[in-house]
Amino acid sequence: MADNLQNQIPARTQQEYAEEVSRIMAVRARGTTPLAFVRTYGCQQNVADGEKIKGQLEKMGFAFTNEEEEADLILFNTCAVREHAEERVFGNVGALKNIKRRHPSLLVAVCGCMMEQKHAAERMRKSFPFVNLVFGTHSIHKLPELLFRTVTDGTRVFERGGDDTVIVEGLPVHRDGGGFKAWLTAMYGCDNFCSYCIVPYVRGRERSREPEAILEEFEGLVKAGYKDITLLGQNVNSYGKTLQNPVSFSELLRRLDQVEGDYRIRFMTSHPKDATEELIDTIAEGKHIAPHLHLPFQSGNDRILKEMNRRYTREKYLQLVSYAKEKIPGLSLTSDVIVGFPGETYEEFRDTVSLIEEVGFTSLFTFIYSPRVGTRAAKMPDPVSHEEKVKWFTELLQVQEQVAAERCAAMVGRTERVLLEGRNEKNGRLEGRTGGNVIVETEGPDELIGSFRDVEITQARNWILRGNLIEGK
Ligand code: SAH
Ligand code: SF4
Ligand code: F3S
Repeated sequence: MADNLQNQIPARTQQEYAEEVSRIMAVRARGTTPLAFVRTYGCQQNVADGEKIKGQLEKMGFAFTNEEEEADLILFNTCAVREHAEERVFGNVGALKNIKRRHPSLLVAVCGCMMEQKHAAERMRKSFPFVNLVFGTHSIHKLPELLFRTVTDGTRVFERGGDDTVIVEGLPVHRDGGGFKAWLTAMYGCDNFCSYCIVPYVRGRERSREPEAILEEFEGLVKAGYKDITLLGQNVNSYGKTLQNPVSFSELLRRLDQVEGDYRIRFMTSHPKDATEELIDTIAEGKHIAPHLHLPFQSGNDRILKEMNRRYTREKYLQLVSYAKEKIPGLSLTSDVIVGFPGETYEEFRDTVSLIEEVGFTSLFTFIYSPRVGTRAAKMPDPVSHEEKVKWFTELLQVQEQVAAERCAAMVGRTERVLLEGRNEKNGRLEGRTGGNVIVETEGPDELIGSFRDVEITQARNWILRGNLIEGK
């Protein structure tokens, strides 16, 4: 009950702020529709947040543009996971200075994970005086109020460090998935504190949405014709543990899978420490659950895994993978990996390479370790030079290229269920993805876009498959 009250009161007042902003922006835009340029950096969680930001902007009368020059509001939704991501944001914000000079009434807002960190928000305050509004991930639902303050007070608005334990339901969502693909947040935050990672500091405590709320949104998506729905959480395998009536992630998947319709479910991310055989059985038995497991291993060496605070071993990871391969036909495994964690030796790095060879991932997201202020790893001695790490990184990429090419080649001759998503801009072929998330190109008419079709794979080139549509299927 208390939770409901907390969730409803701000929603009502935000509605009033939204109406005010809508009136003010209509005047500022001189009777035309105010335009917002919104750019999201980072992971799918941020993309999902960006869709809630856009949903609220739409309620405030904004339409969207891809041209910064014609925007009345430019908003960057930022990521803090690596230094490179942060520097890109500072660079792109800096470039707005000239636009703002030409267009002084332009509003500039910066939000997201990066702005939840004090030092980054301070740098925004000091070095970029033309930024009007800065807010963190815990303040997204207050966007109408924050914009209202920005346009009425005439001062710069900074808002971070909001309550990181609540979930605000019912925010409007503007979906960008082309009508077929949708992101659905199952849980927020992270409590794992992997020693290298900033996410628990900028996303707050782990909290799960009620299964009923997820089911309702999910049914709405299926009814609206969405075909590829991805459940999101930093560690979906710990979903539901903190609910008043705990529900496991496998149970949630089984409930969603019962919804009638032509669609598939994906989810990310699974943390190997919490992934269970029950989860794998659920995928195997599911009617709509894609045979795809994104299971980041980060390192193949036990000492490094321990230093990373990942709380599983190489052996436990490999056992889980071999159980999954045995149970799920056509399983596609993808993963994240970090090269050059502080103190990692070349021999330890080679354990990561050998794990990649052993598992055979369809694709990998590979990162060179980037120290993050405030994390435990940032204080660890890091004797290996960046140049050396780049060499290891290149070595790893070469191995993965080979592994992925073999995985793709092994799919030739198979028939895959493909969701056709559009046309390839360069070659005009129809393009879609398999359940395992591999891209497939084929010849066919436009009417098929947005539907599932069986495709017989005839060729594998550069990790993209080509094939022929099977008539009538
Ligand atoms: N919750 C997910 C990952 C979220 S961050 C999980 O636990 O798997 C996405 C990826 O970024 C991580 O899997 C990791 O590979 C990478 N990453 C996170 N912090 C990093 C850092 N400080 N340096 C380099 N890569 C990092
Ligand atoms: Fe970061 Fe670890 Fe949480 Fe993933 S599980 S978001 S890597 S702390
Ligand atoms: Fe995602 Fe980057 Fe934030 S990876 S959770 S957007 S720090």
